[in-house]
Amino acid sequence: MRTLDAARHPAGDPEQITADLRAQFLSTFGRDAEGTWFAPGRANLNGEHIDFHGGRCLPMALSHGTYVAAAPRTDGVLQMRTLDPELDSGVIPSGPEAPSWTHYVSGVLWALQGLGTGATGLDDDGDPSLITNLTPEDGFGADLLILSTVPVGGGLSSSAALECACALAFVGLGTPLGHENPEEELTSALTDDHRALLAQACIRAEVEFVGAGTGGLDQTVSLRGAENRILSLDCRDFSVNRLNASCLLRGYRFLAVDTRQAHWLVDGQFAARRAEAEAAGALLGFSVAEGHQLREALPERRPKKLHVTERLTEFDEKTADRTQITGPDGQDYDAASCRRRLKHALMEMLRSEKLHTLLSEEAFGLDHMAAEIGEIMTAGHVSMRDEAEVSLPAADRIVDAALGAGAAGARLIGGGFGGSVLVLVHEDKMHDVAAAALKIDAGLRFLDVAPSAAARVV
Ligand code: GLA
Repeated sequence: MRTLDAARHPAGDPEQITADLRAQFLSTFGRDAEGTWFAPGRANLNGEHIDFHGGRCLPMALSHGTYVAAAPRTDGVLQMRTLDPELDSGVIPSGPEAPSWTHYVSGVLWALQGLGTGATGLDDDGDPSLITNLTPEDGFGADLLILSTVPVGGGLSSSAALECACALAFVGLGTPLGHENPEEELTSALTDDHRALLAQACIRAEVEFVGAGTGGLDQTVSLRGAENRILSLDCRDFSVNRLNASCLLRGYRFLAVDTRQAHWLVDGQFAARRAEAEAAGALLGFSVAEGHQLREALPERRPKKLHVTERLTEFDEKTADRTQITGPDGQDYDAASCRRRLKHALMEMLRSEKLHTLLSEEAFGLDHMAAEIGEIMTAGHVSMRDEAEVSLPAADRIVDAALGAGAAGARLIGGGFGGSVLVLVHEDKMHDVAAAALKIDAGLRFLDVAPSAAARVV
């Protein structure tokens, strides 16, 4: 029987990984890399499938992530290679025919080049030097060697880690900010405003270039997370509060259990869930076609269960005589499914507000706080399973096993249909939880989750 220690997927030693990557860069491209950049994956305490509805999310950056060693080119070409045995097929020039993972990288360069064109959707009242400083020079291209310690397709945001690490590499190698702040200096030169702008560029890359209808949670925490902090991210305006998690983590640990069933966001199911929730929103008068977000269906401050119940009742009244509703995209959707998506989204928004309050207040007893947070996590899982319907049997079994072995809470995180379960557990019970999960599937792997620093130069 495997134990937790044997089944751990390590984050590795950044210095060692960087040294190895640089040596491999030299043998791959026949020249030295000019730097190495890292961006973390993420876990999310709550706030799944609501970032694109303007809800609040509570993510944290992992110590696992993506490393990119790179050197600039002046012919506008991107050439890349990943060291992931499942993806690797040698050095690949970017282009429409290249494998799909490369589009995340090309998309980031495309979005950064677009910063100066006013196509970012960013406020015009922002500081214009931000944009100038982060726009790559004409003809910029790069050779890139990529290594990820976050499992690809594991629901821990490997795509955003790839995008954000490449964004930093491009800034470091080809922009005024990078030239003025060589090597490690870039990490401290990047202000939160720079990071927010880079996150917007990475979001554009994923949504507009790759075509995944995601909502920006992953890129924001990868670029703007912090050590020992859980981000409280308000997706209405992408403002963040960095909440101190050290009290909670004094006796407790977060553990991610990778189901080993990869999930993909570009396939239709993720988009379908979002579309159903948007159809429900439109029925209630909050149509995305008119610039509204589902978050507006609840009061701005202190939303309560009562408000959710009122909205569900309104939905029921409006659908009393029909089984289908029309979404803002003009498509017809099954009304009962839309109601479940609506319920998940609104209740998930409430859970996030509750967690924000709990983590912002003075702690009133560690075990009590862990128990409350754990309960909210588990309620989030039940909602992912029954209302959002994005869970999978493997995740449901892992959640049950973890709770049975004494975890404070457990839930599926990320987009669902695969990926990882996040467990909150007292450190004394970690081995029991792992043993219970391994009994279900001896092939599972575990990642230690401790809120870690955001994307940086390594
Ligand atoms: C993926 C997306 C995010 C978010 C989550 C679900 O990770 O990239 O934007 O929608 O799924 O919460």
